[in-house]
Amino acid sequence: MFEKFEATPQDPIIKLIGMCRDDPRLEKIDVGVGVFRDSNGQTPIMEAVTIAEQRLHKTQTTKSYVGLAGDEVFNEQIGNLVFGQSCAPDRVRAVQTPGGCGALRMLSDMLFRIASDRTVWVSDPTWGNHYPIFRQSGFNVQSYPYLDRETKTVNLDALMGKLSTLGQNDIVVLHGCCHNPSGAELEPQNWDEIAQLSAKNGFFPYVDFAYQGFGRSLEDDAYSIRALASAVESMVVASSCSKNFGLYRDRVGCALLLGNTPAVSDIARDHLLITARSSYSMPPDHGAAIVAQIMTDTALRQSWEDELTGMREHMLSIRKKLSGRLREKAASDRWDFIADHRGMFSLLVLDDKQVDRLRNDYAVYAVAGGRINIAGIKDSDQLERFADALVAVTT
Ligand code: LMR
Repeated sequence: MFEKFEATPQDPIIKLIGMCRDDPRLEKIDVGVGVFRDSNGQTPIMEAVTIAEQRLHKTQTTKSYVGLAGDEVFNEQIGNLVFGQSCAPDRVRAVQTPGGCGALRMLSDMLFRIASDRTVWVSDPTWGNHYPIFRQSGFNVQSYPYLDRETKTVNLDALMGKLSTLGQNDIVVLHGCCHNPSGAELEPQNWDEIAQLSAKNGFFPYVDFAYQGFGRSLEDDAYSIRALASAVESMVVASSCSKNFGLYRDRVGCALLLGNTPAVSDIARDHLLITARSSYSMPPDHGAAIVAQIMTDTALRQSWEDELTGMREHMLSIRKKLSGRLREKAASDRWDFIADHRGMFSLLVLDDKQVDRLRNDYAVYAVAGGRINIAGIKDSDQLERFADALVAVTT
């Protein structure tokens, strides 16, 4: 049977994780996969998570099934966190999924049931896994312009120009905040414009929302979604708790949909549940139960928000330091954009040779194209060495 398979390339980010793990060089710097690390190079378990987990162990009495939609307290809380007051809550439906990736795929499969002839548009560049996810559902996937590779800012003219040509036959995948891989962000007025375009021309907004709280704040990062939700009849959001709760391996995500009436939303939700049933059936409970505990306990929620703010500020301070040191070492302002980007990532726009040299000669692990995870630089020693390596491979 299996001899029919042809060799297939690994996902580049997954491959990089393995290569970095297997590299014996102690001085290696891992700016590859999008995982937050603190100044000790650790991915901490958040304090609120530890406490909620302990409570859970003390109070949980069964491991019986929860249900297809997962934890309903979690679902309601994530619905509020994402949509805020932007739309009538009875139009929103939320289904817990295994990670944000699970939400992306379930929403995509659900949409394919009724919109198989539509084109899915992803940004250029985008997270590498977007293509396989939407293609596996069956969609034709195309890209719209996003990043100006010279300035490393959003190419607004090209973006808006393209979006204004899309309509009823199109689904547009937008990064709600902290664009992956570029780090280049849209401003609130840009989101207002996109929302108006969608409402006027009918393209369907599909928001990937994996980094809420990593950009500006929990509220500000949701501006994108709320602008859309107050303008359009329907949309979907794939939300993730991997990064903002640090629950990576517990696989905690949420598929959210907004329908034009509660009755329409109910039926759409049923289709989402049927889609899940024929895939993983029911989502894992543990991580979502932790999030539900945190979100409904005033003290834990405050602790979580404070720690999240600390993580965001840590990444911002690395951005500032790194761009400052690069300005001195390269005697140029070409890396100043790193301080202006938001979230974990910046796309440095490097070619394959430069990325290979970083890895082979300097033990620096960056994703193809030169995506770096800012939080991978743990201290000033690594920062100096990273900056030296970058200057060496780019001059
Ligand atoms: C990333 O972009 O590095 C993260 O979203 C992890 C992943 O699964 O790729």
